[in-house]
Amino acid sequence: DDPEKLAAFQARIDAGEKIEPKEWMPEGYRKTLIRQIGQHAHSEIVGQLPEGNWITRAPSLERKAILLAKVQDEAGHGLYLYCAAETLGVSRDELTEALLAGKMKYSSIFNYPTLTWADIGAVGWLVDGAAIMNQVPLQRTSFGPYSRAMIRICKEESFHQRQGFDIMRKMATGTKAQRHMAQDALNRFWYPSLMMFGPSDADSVHSAQSIRWKIKMNTNDELRQKFVDQTVPQAEYLGLTVPDPDLRWNADKGGYDFSEPDWDEFFEVLKGNGPCNTERLAARQKAWDDGAWVRDGLMAHAAKQHSAPVA
Ligand code: 3HC
Repeated sequence: DDPEKLAAFQARIDAGEKIEPKEWMPEGYRKTLIRQIGQHAHSEIVGQLPEGNWITRAPSLERKAILLAKVQDEAGHGLYLYCAAETLGVSRDELTEALLAGKMKYSSIFNYPTLTWADIGAVGWLVDGAAIMNQVPLQRTSFGPYSRAMIRICKEESFHQRQGFDIMRKMATGTKAQRHMAQDALNRFWYPSLMMFGPSDADSVHSAQSIRWKIKMNTNDELRQKFVDQTVPQAEYLGLTVPDPDLRWNADKGGYDFSEPDWDEFFEVLKGNGPCNTERLAARQKAWDDGAWVRDGLMAHAAKQHSAPVA
């Protein structure tokens, strides 16, 4: 890219301007956006699977209706994000095929199973809590369509987190068996939720450039720390114990010291060796194959409309 154009572009970013799809942008900026927005969209869609598993198993009609609404919201979040990615010149078909071919990722968290109803509480409380931590700053990202999608998505995320926390509150103040289930869910979802923020800053290959381009507004460790600081008091309020014996308040830094996730496990999950990777991709592949006739029918109809003689 032409150094002058790059400098002018960076000046726009530094001035807090929004970059719109039809405006000039460095190829690296476009590529990074397609990667991040595409994987964000994949995360929303694959993220429906662990929760969808419990829609028919919800303990009450009210919980079923709430969970159904949340899972439907996630489909809409995926739609906004795929549409934002399409403005960069990549089709939803290409993004889906890249996902199914293992060439694109989705958030590691969705490769863990939801074994009990308390897991649905932990997912809303911790996973959507972490997603909010990550998505709120992204409302100020430099790419217009992504920023506007984030603003819309963030309005719905707080409901997702609150309904999850309310399930945890109900279980944590319930019978002994329910309290045990709530603690078991926290034990299994705590570290995978910390992994959602990405590898440690030392291992984050994209952070520096993504922050310069305001495609990322904070580093991975910054957001992870904020998440721990906000969530530990909530666990204490629930009477649950965070599964980290080294967790302790550090008055000097004004935050908690905590144990890092098992990064070997993280990179194994990213390589496809997590508990549910195969199952999740198989579900997406089946949905893609089973929906082919609908897509073909829509395209045939559109082609007929297009070629229909104008009166
Ligand atoms: N799961 C899967 N892959 C991850 C990951 C995770 N938790 N964390 C990092 N990675 C990948 C990165 O994508 C990158 O691989 P790639 O080059 O093939 O894309 C590699 O690990 C190195 O990590 P970096 O920190 O260098 O990468 P990024 O700068 O892209 O940071 C990120 C990773 C923080 C996830 C960033 O991409 C981001 O903020 N993305 C937008 C938010 C997002 O995708 N959130 C998903 C959460 S789920 C969700 O929001 C749904 C909600 O409804 C629950």
